[in-house]
Amino acid sequence: MSSHIQIFDTTLRDGEQTPGVSFSFEERLKLAQQLEKWGVDVIEAGFPASSQGSFESVQAIARTLKHTTVTGLARCLKSDIDAVYEATKDAVSPSIHVFIATSPIHLESKLHMTEAEVLEAITTHVRYAKERFDIVQFSPEDATRTPLPFLIESVQTAVNAGATVINIPDTVGYSYPTEYGNIFKELTEQIKSDVPITYSAHCHDDLGLAVANSMAAIENGATRIEGTVNGIGERAGNTALEEVALGLYVRQDHYQIQTQIQLELTKQTSDMVARYAGLRVPRNKAIVGKNAFSHESGIHQDGFLKNPETYEIMTPQLVGVKKTELPLGKLSGKHAFQDKLKQLGYDIDLEEQKVLFKAFKSIADKKKHVTDQDIHALIQDTEHEKHVAYHLEALQLQFVSNGLQSAVVVVRDNEGQQYQDSSIGTGSIVAIYNAVDRIFNVEPVLLDYRIDAVSEGRDAQAEVHVQVEVAGQEHTGVGFDHDILYASCKAYVEAVGKAVQSIQKEGVAQ
Ligand code: KIV
Ligand code: ZN
Repeated sequence: MSSHIQIFDTTLRDGEQTPGVSFSFEERLKLAQQLEKWGVDVIEAGFPASSQGSFESVQAIARTLKHTTVTGLARCLKSDIDAVYEATKDAVSPSIHVFIATSPIHLESKLHMTEAEVLEAITTHVRYAKERFDIVQFSPEDATRTPLPFLIESVQTAVNAGATVINIPDTVGYSYPTEYGNIFKELTEQIKSDVPITYSAHCHDDLGLAVANSMAAIENGATRIEGTVNGIGERAGNTALEEVALGLYVRQDHYQIQTQIQLELTKQTSDMVARYAGLRVPRNKAIVGKNAFSHESGIHQDGFLKNPETYEIMTPQLVGVKKTELPLGKLSGKHAFQDKLKQLGYDIDLEEQKVLFKAFKSIADKKKHVTDQDIHALIQDTEHEKHVAYHLEALQLQFVSNGLQSAVVVVRDNEGQQYQDSSIGTGSIVAIYNAVDRIFNVEPVLLDYRIDAVSEGRDAQAEVHVQVEVAGQEHTGVGFDHDILYASCKAYVEAVGKAVQSIQKEGVAQ
């Protein structure tokens, strides 16, 4: 019997498969460090064979983390397994996650393999992985649409070849709790092994059942749960890990087993993932949504004031939600700013603090209360500026009602060279984006444009996310500013600038 439920975080792999989400190298490293602090047992840092970028960030994470197991994804291909080995070999605790689909639809339509060929591929590749790793995890992809006898045969084959962790993916979010739980019951009863096997649940949320299915797996013998922070991921997303951790904690009377998650760091971790992914957490999201701890109706408020437990099964403090945040303002000095950085979990050297303080003062000149969200945005913006090749230097606009708008944009590269151009458009954003396209001499397709307020109130800063496609490749950019149009321009310059940089680097033909 395991002493705790292991948390396997795949925010950086399955989570990054969320449409429009692409973490930078630095963001991946910071997220991995935060996940380690939060207390996850395993971090799936990426899919090293999929790109050089993924390989490098898995390697950097493996070299940085102090005690968390670092794993990488591999298809049943020796080259994939070699890539995971090279990327994770310096980790304190390296491991590998090998998968192949086992369902009839995947075999017939995707792999064009027979069941016998799949079993042979499992034996060959799990064995090959086991020669390189102590811990080999095997996943039969689309397990929940695989007939149980073949699923059991596939899992037994993987165990015979040396896998000690068996993960059961509900790849398309198709299962329901009693059915999914039963798979674990059957596996734990039928699989034969000389060594202990860890059973792991990996659920997708297409029917909104990912967390419920994961909890059913625990009730039937799973001791590891895979998922992502805030439940981000492909399509409807993955199991939201914070919901599993809190579910086990609040209902310990029933589950009688816990995770090693530091619950009080949950909100901080969720905020960081939301910021880097550019995906706001829905207000009504369990545990980390803005409304999760607010009480609206009169009856609820009355009861809550008499005894919070009338309507609250956990306190906001438990997950690190701060009730009263003390905003900074125009008169706040360096020390107050330093204290705030520390309080928000940043460890920033003095030189950089000076730069940030200047930027903070400029925000404080424009808005009365500089909130925690403003400070996070300021730091994210400064980080972005450090890693991009092109920066927005100036923007000039002319607006006429019922007419064409015009924009002049000035961009600077890291060598200090300036580029400028102007254009017109049916709206201000169109005019700005046309001018940027002229500067870079490209014709990007704008795939996504999102605007959010960083905090509340009419003086809130804007946060704009854009996603563009240039020469068949997608790039993202984020811009923060007091002015929506300036933030929109910054985000677009970052995204198109990245595209131009990758064309120059890789010589991608246009
Ligand atoms: O959902 C899935 O099937 C996966 C596998 C690669 C484990 O993410
Ligand atoms: Zn998945």
